[in-house]
Amino acid sequence: MDWGMKNRMSQLIQPDGHCFFLPIDHGYFQGPTTKLERPGDTIKPLLPYCDALFVTRGVLRSVVDPAGGKPIILRVSGGTSVVGKDLANETLTTSIKEALRLNVAAMGISVFVGSEYEHQTLSNLAELVNQAEEYGIPVMAVTAVGRELDKRDARYLALSCRIAAELGARVVKTYWCGDGFEKVVNGCPVPVVMAGGPKCETELEVLEFVYDGIQKGAIGINLGRNVWQIEHPVAMIQALRAIIHENATPKQALDIFLTLKDKGAD
Ligand code: 5RP
Repeated sequence: MDWGMKNRMSQLIQPDGHCFFLPIDHGYFQGPTTKLERPGDTIKPLLPYCDALFVTRGVLRSVVDPAGGKPIILRVSGGTSVVGKDLANETLTTSIKEALRLNVAAMGISVFVGSEYEHQTLSNLAELVNQAEEYGIPVMAVTAVGRELDKRDARYLALSCRIAAELGARVVKTYWCGDGFEKVVNGCPVPVVMAGGPKCETELEVLEFVYDGIQKGAIGINLGRNVWQIEHPVAMIQALRAIIHENATPKQALDIFLTLKDKGAD
């Protein structure tokens, strides 16, 4: 691995081997979804507590302070919407020149294994890796399922993660799936981070699945809705950070959440 790639990877994965990425990229197909109506307002109070921010170039340019100092993972796939025919029909939306101009730490792209657009999205990933590796930029693959949330079982996720790693992703983002999640992580030769999916019923549920996933080998999270759609996101992000970087249990993390909430944290 050359210097540029090592430098970028070390911006993403912290010295303890773990990471907390904050995705605010949902607008690229969901529009102004709940709590992302004004993405700048969502990002601002949470930014100090994450290790990197996952956004599109549009949000980056318009609402993120270039002097803010957080590593950026640039979302570079898209071209679909929630009201369109098929969320899987993605293309590469952003050039490598743009990524260099924006001085990003990594690029993120979705793949839709098993969908009608499997070949297209896997080819997008391979092509992006070809370009990005030339400039020392890591690619994070997102194993996406579109609207088919029930696809999120260990067998399917293990297949998707492994394929993404084989095509050259340096990090793979996937879903926690409970039983068998260790098989997903063990079958993937590059680090795995977890997304959250739609908002859970309770804070404890989120803290428990994140803790379980870390015990089973994930190096961290790329958690969006279960942070910023929660009623007290600033308290929640600190509770989650304690699990990722301080080895807190779900019970300890819940105490952190409740204490901060009682002290008036947003
Ligand atoms: C959306 C994404 C998100 O980055 C990813 O799904 C994580 O967000 P959440 O925890 O809300 O699922 O790729 O396209």
